[in-house]
Amino acid sequence: KKVVLAYSGGLDTSVILRWLQDTYNCEVVTFTADLGQGEDVEPAREKAKMLGIKEVYVEDLREEFVRDYVFPMFRANALYEGCYLLGTSIARPLISKRQIEIAAETGADAVSHGATGKGNDQVRFELSYYALQPDIKIIAPWREWDLTSRTKLIEFAEQHQIPIAKDKRGEAPFSVDANLLHSSSEGKVLEDPWDAPEEYVFQRTVSPEQAPDKATSIEIDFEHGDPVAIDGERLSPASLLTKLNELGGANGIGRLDMVENRFVGMKNRGVYETPGGTIMHHAHRAMESLTLDRGMAHLKDEMMPRYAELIYNGFWFSPEREMMQQAIDFSQRNVTGTVRMKLYKGNVTCTGRKAERSLYSEDIVTFEEGSGTYDHKDAAGFIKLNALRLRLNKMLQG
Ligand code: ARG
Ligand code: SIN
Repeated sequence: KKVVLAYSGGLDTSVILRWLQDTYNCEVVTFTADLGQGEDVEPAREKAKMLGIKEVYVEDLREEFVRDYVFPMFRANALYEGCYLLGTSIARPLISKRQIEIAAETGADAVSHGATGKGNDQVRFELSYYALQPDIKIIAPWREWDLTSRTKLIEFAEQHQIPIAKDKRGEAPFSVDANLLHSSSEGKVLEDPWDAPEEYVFQRTVSPEQAPDKATSIEIDFEHGDPVAIDGERLSPASLLTKLNELGGANGIGRLDMVENRFVGMKNRGVYETPGGTIMHHAHRAMESLTLDRGMAHLKDEMMPRYAELIYNGFWFSPEREMMQQAIDFSQRNVTGTVRMKLYKGNVTCTGRKAERSLYSEDIVTFEEGSGTYDHKDAAGFIKLNALRLRLNKMLQG
């Protein structure tokens, strides 16, 4: 029996690695993905080998992550509960997909992850596993073992010769998940929703107060709903997001402190930093404002909360998400052009937009005399008929 473990190289998943070998007497294959979390992934390879693992997978998935997961999601302008840009939610399906592929390659019959039994991540991993490999066996150690405290975890590590980084001995002040799109911090010192997050919580943004007093202006080119260039320089999806993260981070953009509803039913306080994603979100909306028909734009906005909830709840690989994606992608066929964004002390605002296939007609909207496509007189009947129902209501029912 063989199991593919989503392995970060940290203490928790190293303990899981050994625990799987002991408890299930199985061979473990480790899979470590570079999703732009900002930490070197190579130490995970060494550590896995040192812990006796023969099949070690370490992969740079940054381009695939941004191109096939982040960008499609941003075409929808997805926000969960009005503000969360879904940085953790969107990474789970990709990790799961690679685990299932590696299971097939290595002849493994099971997969395992290090998410706890209280959160969203377990649901996202496992729904994705089942959707891609219906008969896969899933091992979720956090729901099975009795290593319920930090002390027990460290004891287990010491008994099994698992090296513990010095800074990992003490209790971390909160839990972090990071990738190219965002970093999230939750739990422990952040659990009281009344307590403001201290500055040390933030990892990729300066505070708006510390940001430069001078605004930064950038131009972003879009093609069919995806950003492709910054200030005229064409960039791959991952390099583009990296660049936006630098620009956003330096200007204090993309901080969020929210209380959200987890799929499993509890409320959770999270502190998020999504600098590049926040710029991208507003830039994309600005691009759509010029190029999307009103009917499509409004319908898209109606679908968006459902689409975001699907991703939050772990249903990326579901028929209804794919169905909505097709509609969203179709709407983006003319979302091509350039927007100018101003970045200033935590704010991102659009100061200009242009597109060859713009639907904006200066000729029609102008206060001056236009070419005659629009006849003022038409408006009278338009308003009168729209008012009919309102007038009848007043006349017949008071
Ligand atoms: N609350 C966020 C979400 O559900 C972030 C989860 C962070 N996950 C973690 N393992 N620390 O998407
Ligand atoms: C976890 O429980 O593993 C992290 C938080 C979450 O999944 O929501």
